[in-house]
Amino acid sequence: MAPKHQITKHSSLIKETENLLNQQIEKEASSSFLYLSMASWCEREGYDHSADFLYAQTQEEQGHMMRIFRYVNEVGGEATVPEIGAIKSSYGSLKEIFEEALKSEIEVTKSIGKIATHCLNIGDHATLNFLNWFVKEQREEEKWARKAVSLFSLLGDEGPFHLFSIDKEIGKLRNKSPN
Ligand code: FEO
Repeated sequence: MAPKHQITKHSSLIKETENLLNQQIEKEASSSFLYLSMASWCEREGYDHSADFLYAQTQEEQGHMMRIFRYVNEVGGEATVPEIGAIKSSYGSLKEIFEEALKSEIEVTKSIGKIATHCLNIGDHATLNFLNWFVKEQREEEKWARKAVSLFSLLGDEGPFHLFSIDKEIGKLRNKSPN
């Protein structure tokens, strides 16, 4: 007889792990919409490079969501389609956008770490192995966000010329990534 913490007798994924992964699916979907909202704001304000960068980031986050979604079903769990609450649509400045992006990425890193620790504790090496991709990915995600935030102190965040230069530099961030 399968232990009662198993979802089905055909899966080694326990309910708690399934719940954590489904919560992460929701977080990745929220991130995707957050970046969509940020991209839209940048586009409306004329920050075209930042808009392109954030639209691409929207798709990346959707890719992250799908990666977890497919994994949960693949290992015999049940991936749930996330419900996304209201997403902020107005920002005070370009700087605020990237500060918020960095904050959001740090939260995602913590969340992935929490699931990885849980998997280590229960000996779910398959899920832990799956999560390793995200651990590495989060290093990159935090890196570009930190770099974007640092541009404001390096180049100055007052006046159209500085903001124009920052927008241009943000457009180059993805090219600098080793991914
Ligand atoms: Fe999917 Fe940017 O974390």
